[in-house]
Amino acid sequence: DKQKLIRNFSIIAHIDHGKSTLADRLIEFTGALDKREMKEQILDNLEVERKHGITVKAQTARLEYEKDGQKYILNMIDTPGHVDFGYEVSKSLKACEGCLLVVDATQGVEAQTIANAYLAIDNDLELIPVINKIDLPSADIEKTKSEIEDALGIDAKESIEISAKSGLNIDKVVDAIIDRIPPPKGENNAPLRALVVDSWYDNYRGVVFIVRVFDGELKVGDKILVYSTKKEYDVEELGFFTPKSKKTDKLSTGEVGYVIANIKNIQDATVGDTITLAKNPTDRPFEGFQKPKPFVFAGLYPLNPEDYDDLAEALEKLQLNDASLTVEKEKSESLGFGFRCGFLGVLSMNITRERLEGEFGLDVVMTTPSVLYKVELTNGETIEISNPSELPQPTKIKAIYEPMVETEIITPAEFVGNIIKLLQDKRGQQKEILYIATDRVLIKYKVPLAEILVDFYDKLKSLSRGYASFDYEFSGFEASDLTKLIILINSKEIDSFSLIVPKEKAYRIAREVLKNLKQYIPKQLFEVRLQAKVGGKIIAKETIGALRKDVLAKCYGGDITRKKKLLEKQKEGKKKLKQLGNVGISKEAFIKLVEIK
Ligand code: GTP
Repeated sequence: DKQKLIRNFSIIAHIDHGKSTLADRLIEFTGALDKREMKEQILDNLEVERKHGITVKAQTARLEYEKDGQKYILNMIDTPGHVDFGYEVSKSLKACEGCLLVVDATQGVEAQTIANAYLAIDNDLELIPVINKIDLPSADIEKTKSEIEDALGIDAKESIEISAKSGLNIDKVVDAIIDRIPPPKGENNAPLRALVVDSWYDNYRGVVFIVRVFDGELKVGDKILVYSTKKEYDVEELGFFTPKSKKTDKLSTGEVGYVIANIKNIQDATVGDTITLAKNPTDRPFEGFQKPKPFVFAGLYPLNPEDYDDLAEALEKLQLNDASLTVEKEKSESLGFGFRCGFLGVLSMNITRERLEGEFGLDVVMTTPSVLYKVELTNGETIEISNPSELPQPTKIKAIYEPMVETEIITPAEFVGNIIKLLQDKRGQQKEILYIATDRVLIKYKVPLAEILVDFYDKLKSLSRGYASFDYEFSGFEASDLTKLIILINSKEIDSFSLIVPKEKAYRIAREVLKNLKQYIPKQLFEVRLQAKVGGKIIAKETIGALRKDVLAKCYGGDITRKKKLLEKQKEGKKKLKQLGNVGISKEAFIKLVEIK
């Protein structure tokens, strides 16, 4: 029976602990590709794409391996690598019966190791601890094992010690995959039940998605039904990656492969959705499907208004491959025309901005990010607010709820005091503090997402001299005592600087914002008054004195070319300035203002 010879697994690890290196070794070891072919494959992928093939995901691969005269199929399923994608990691793990938990023996257990391992345990997977980098002199295998046991409560006696770099003990990893991970269950004769584990937009083929078939069979030509949207599509192509892409005419129960079905919009095939057959649909869709939903919002504006159309087009392109990215037109008094964008999380937000600047060559201004708030009104209605300037009058508000996250931080013990201070300051609620080794501590806190949006990670890194690792997971909404902070420049309200802040911190944040504004707004020909207002009351003030000297005074009556040059320079300077009320401010200054809260 073919199904008994299938093993579905993924590799989970903290960043840099060796996930990609191990994946490459497994591909080599099972003979799918040798070293030279691996290199060629990467080049090939680009070439293939150019030739209207489909984008290949190297870390999702079907490996064949013969053991004791049996030919096994080992499906390696890629998991996304970052905190923003906790939901997607959880769904790709759901597609597996087991996973390799890779821990770097020179670093030990880190925050992402824990977050990912919890997801695997929640999904009842067979966990195989793999201790990597044992070739390095600083590797401490015993300590790593005891950290795995203390932090995760799993037995590390059966862990496999490897060097993914040299290939040492890779055979043992393959044996463990075959011997310890159970084969997939499921009924080949039942109605089709397949889980979407990954999807992306291919320029030539449209949406490509990867499924794990739990029951039934999927064939080329079948009419599929996407459960959440109830939309139907004809299957054009099925296949798998070896990691080269190989077509097949069907995917049976237990198998993993890609599907192309003329889907144009990535939102129509997102991770976690159920795929079934239109003529005989399953009545058991996978539980816990969520539409990708942004939790972090910011305004994006072109620095030069002429770039507005280019920015619109660039955002549209990015949306093709990011089902969670939302884009709405927005007009700000201070910044002109731009877009209110919603992102899955902080990382996605920063990546989007970097891509707009790097790939699309656009100069963009981003406003202070905000989270999604749920606001309960006195009339009984509940609304969602993603822009602080939309917050209704205080008299109309009954309660404001903000998104919370559960964080896991792992740090050397000496920094625990400072980190706890930081977490308290960020309105954190302590959940657990656990020594996973004599000198390493796991700290669990519940913190408002808004508090980790801007500078949390940098602070954590500097407080721990770079040693603390951090991961988080969304954990619902909670009511908080929040209020709107309004910033005025020369009595004019600057909408893009409005913030929703905790009442207890309003005064302190107001003073900080004004101090920053004072530092970054250059002197003008007139006096500039900065004010911060909460609930109709001014709670902080600053003044920027007027510029005394005329730039031209110095060369009065002097060299005319120098005068011209100065004027030109001034003009250029002006072009780069953003107008805030009647005050000009440079993009650099604006970014500084956005970054510091
Ligand atoms: P991300 O893709 O960034 O999440 O990292 P990753 O977990 O995939 O790690 P990757 O495989 O890229 O390895 C990180 C670094 O560790 C690379 O420089 C590897 O060459 C190195 N590395 C991986 N395995 C070993 C090992 O067994 N021994 C040694 N000495 N180095 C290793």
